[in-house]
Amino acid sequence: MSAFNIHHATARELPQAQGTPVAAPLTPLLQAINVSQRFGNVLACDRIHLDLYPGEVLGIVGESGSGKSSLLHCLAGHVLPSEGQILFASKDQGVQDVVTMNEARRRFLQRTDWGFVHQSARDGLRSDVSAGANVGERLMAVGARHYGAIRQEAQHWLARVEIDETRIDDLPRYFSGGMQQRLQIARNLVTKPRLIFMDEPTASLDVSVQARLLDLLRQLVSQLHVAAVIVTHDLAVARLLAHRLMVMRQGQVVEQGLTDQVLDDPQHPYTQLLVSSVLQA
Ligand SMILES: Nc1ncnc2c1ncn2[C@@H]1O[C@H](COP(=O)(O)OP(=O)(O)O)[C@@H](O)[C@H]1O
Ligand SMILES: [Mg+2]
Repeated sequence: MSAFNIHHATARELPQAQGTPVAAPLTPLLQAINVSQRFGNVLACDRIHLDLYPGEVLGIVGESGSGKSSLLHCLAGHVLPSEGQILFASKDQGVQDVVTMNEARRRFLQRTDWGFVHQSARDGLRSDVSAGANVGERLMAVGARHYGAIRQEAQHWLARVEIDETRIDDLPRYFSGGMQQRLQIARNLVTKPRLIFMDEPTASLDVSVQARLLDLLRQLVSQLHVAAVIVTHDLAVARLLAHRLMVMRQGQVVEQGLTDQVLDDPQHPYTQLLVSSVLQA
């Protein structure tokens, strides 16, 4: 059995986490090959490999400073890695390397087929325009021009993330932290991306609000069959959202596997430490 087939079998087991059947995928949606990121003397990511299939949710966990965000920003094309390839199976132009594609193409993908949910809504929302415009802006990027239709679609998405439609003309700064994160999610999902990146999406919120956001994220990701890469230092978040986990330490992947396997039966001493420190906390 080739490595490909082993992965294929793994992908078949994925639906357990979210209950929706994932069709056995043939080509990865996103693939990182030998990706390294250096900042001066710091090797933030050290020869990372990963495959992400359509509809799959990959969690990247590890303590602060382990290189999770650096990797995510490379994958999402926000920064270029020092080395390596990042292959994306685009709808219209086949498999392309995110590293070598031109800037206009990268920006197009970021506005359309990809989403990025930042830890802080400040980084993920436009503070000077209304909630409705925050959502509508991305629709215009995919060619929507009709004001009424854009507004209607924005309203629909606000409802989907449980924001009252009467708030459509309000500036996001008047929203609570939880609402701002939900607005960020609506803004990202409105173009029906096939791939969404999230960096600690719940970390800025009170614990009581986190649970509701997590539940919503879990539902949306599974309903829309969107693939996701979620960076989190919180193993409970990883457990709830991710089918598969990668554990990073000092820029390297020390362990990976199905979420339940990694968390219930960690093999690497570092993962064991991460899991046991959560249990003690
Ligand atoms: N823009 C940057 N310039 C210099 N060093 C950076 C930069 N971004 C991250 N680093 C360093 O890279 C390492 C990994 O950081 P990061 O990817 O933010 O980790 P994590 O998201 O896991 O907390 C850390 O040592 C951090 O200080
Ligand atoms: Mg980080």
